[in-house]
Amino acid sequence: MSTDAIVLLKADHKEVKALFRRFEKAGKGARKEKGHLVAKMIELLTVHTYLENELVYPEVRRILPDLEDDILESYEEHHVADVLIRELAALSPDHERFDAKTTVLIESVEHHIEEEEQEWFPEVRAGLGRKQLSEMGARMLEMKKTAPRSPAQPGALRKAVDAVLA
Ligand SMILES: [Fe+2]
Ligand SMILES: [Fe+2]
Repeated sequence: MSTDAIVLLKADHKEVKALFRRFEKAGKGARKEKGHLVAKMIELLTVHTYLENELVYPEVRRILPDLEDDILESYEEHHVADVLIRELAALSPDHERFDAKTTVLIESVEHHIEEEEQEWFPEVRAGLGRKQLSEMGARMLEMKKTAPRSPAQPGALRKAVDAVLA
């Protein structure tokens, strides 16, 4: 199995986008199913954001300073997603704002994924060697084992607080 960091990040993106499509296809009355799908989205996005915030973004910023503006914009987009995720985690699927909030999360995360994949992954691939990307990916897989899986866990919450205070 490849440990190329970009391959792993894209696999995460694909997995979460599949949940987005299932949520959109679920009927208005499918409260239980939508609740499960959102819980799974929250878990995937919490882990993914953690790996990018803690490892991928700082490394890319250090090695490729020209991408700094993209990285800073990405941190802000993660922050917006974090706010929605924390609110959704506390919201019952029966609440009248549950679907609307999830739709806004989906729109904003899809925009963010698009920018990562179209705008800066190609530059990261060009700027980092195959060896560096595969070492980064191996570290990502290690970190994934202990990464926070819900916004209530200390690591995730601390990042959210840092983002507000920054
Ligand atoms: Fe991201
Ligand atoms: Fe990402």
